[in-house]
Amino acid sequence: MARLGIDFGTSNTGAGILRDGRPAALPLEAGAQTLPTAVFVDFTDKRFVYGEAAARAMMEGQDGRFMRGLKSILGTPLAREKRRFLNERMTLIEVIGRFLAEIRCRSERITGQSFEAAISGRPVRFHSESEDKDAQAEIDLREAYALAGFRAVDFLPEPEAAALAVAGEGRMLIVDIGGGTSDFTLCERARGQTRVIASRGLRLGGTDFDRSLSLAHVMPLLGHGAEIGAELGAKTHAAPRALFHDLASWEKIAFVYDAALLREVKRWIRLARDPVLFERLAEVLEMHLGHDIAYAVEAGKIAANDSERGEIALDVVQRGLRIDLWGVQLQHELSSAAARIGDMALATLKDGGCRPDQVDMVVFVGGSSQLSGVRQALARRLPEARQETAEVFTAVVHGLAFAAR
Ligand SMILES: Nc1ncnc2c1ncn2[C@@H]1O[C@H](COP(=O)(O)OP(=O)(O)OP(=O)(O)O)[C@@H](O)[C@H]1O
Ligand SMILES: [Mg+2]
Repeated sequence: MARLGIDFGTSNTGAGILRDGRPAALPLEAGAQTLPTAVFVDFTDKRFVYGEAAARAMMEGQDGRFMRGLKSILGTPLAREKRRFLNERMTLIEVIGRFLAEIRCRSERITGQSFEAAISGRPVRFHSESEDKDAQAEIDLREAYALAGFRAVDFLPEPEAAALAVAGEGRMLIVDIGGGTSDFTLCERARGQTRVIASRGLRLGGTDFDRSLSLAHVMPLLGHGAEIGAELGAKTHAAPRALFHDLASWEKIAFVYDAALLREVKRWIRLARDPVLFERLAEVLEMHLGHDIAYAVEAGKIAANDSERGEIALDVVQRGLRIDLWGVQLQHELSSAAARIGDMALATLKDGGCRPDQVDMVVFVGGSSQLSGVRQALARRLPEARQETAEVFTAVVHGLAFAAR
């Protein structure tokens, strides 16, 4: 039974096999080794669309429902709620099943092989605050693989998969900071063999950084924190926080659009001291602009990190509406998250009975490991270790390809 290695990520998904003894990430999308973990349910053509095409359909404003970051709902009640998609009532586990089936189909088309089994990555902890939710998340994902037509699936912690694929020898700490989780593996590599010493995980990643940036910079422009008056009397109250929280969370955006809520927001326009804010909010809900905002925040974050100055461009909400985001400001706003990541790295060393000065190398994996605040947090705690960067987006899938053999 041929096994396919699958790195089902919060933001990006990859599939890999061994070719002539070397791991290869399959080109699931033209010219790319990964595809966005995104699904678009197209209401006009009555079909499901995946990856870049899904993101494009959403950006073009086609009629349908866009979902990204669905890995984050595994293990939560949201995963098993039935919702109507086209003419079927379906859970989000079934939607993930369809996405994984698409990965299997594309991989079979590319390789000419048929894959009945999968070896899948999983975060060390889907949920770091609850054992039960963590266990449930794996049950949910296993079910999605079964729905995708895989007769068997094994799981390997993502940083342990990456540890199989990184170059070099010695004692290393793999630090994989992705879209949804931060994962750590302390391991020893000698003569091409990897011995895992300890692993830890934290439910914290790029989508959380996007949420906090959105809540701080964008949501206030839509009425977050603003006062709404009462129909009668002089009392005021703030708009419900949960709405802004959901609108700033990748995995929840698809489910905030609701006719009753929109009516309520239109009432707030009448009662608010600053109606412009709620007028914008109504526009965002009516035109389904939540994901456009999330993409703008993510792009602003990446630009601020990579070139010191970024901006969150919100022209889609209002022409010319832009928010400057400086690199130093980004570092400051994400500093407590970076500190939690650094502390979890130290806890992993402690589990392995290893002092920071006994680590030869810190190896960064995952898109969010490129954040300079994260690098500095690790450098401060392991000043003697060399910092290396693996293939950030493909190290895990390469390791899974080795494991699939
Ligand atoms: N240059 C960059 N600077 C900061 N963040 C970045 C950069 N490039 C990508 N990211 C972030 O990296 C994240 C995606 O990384 P990655 O593809 O490794 O995650 P994933 O594997 O899908 O998620 P997970 O493993 O947590 O399930 C996104 O949140 C994205 O915004
Ligand atoms: Mg990942």
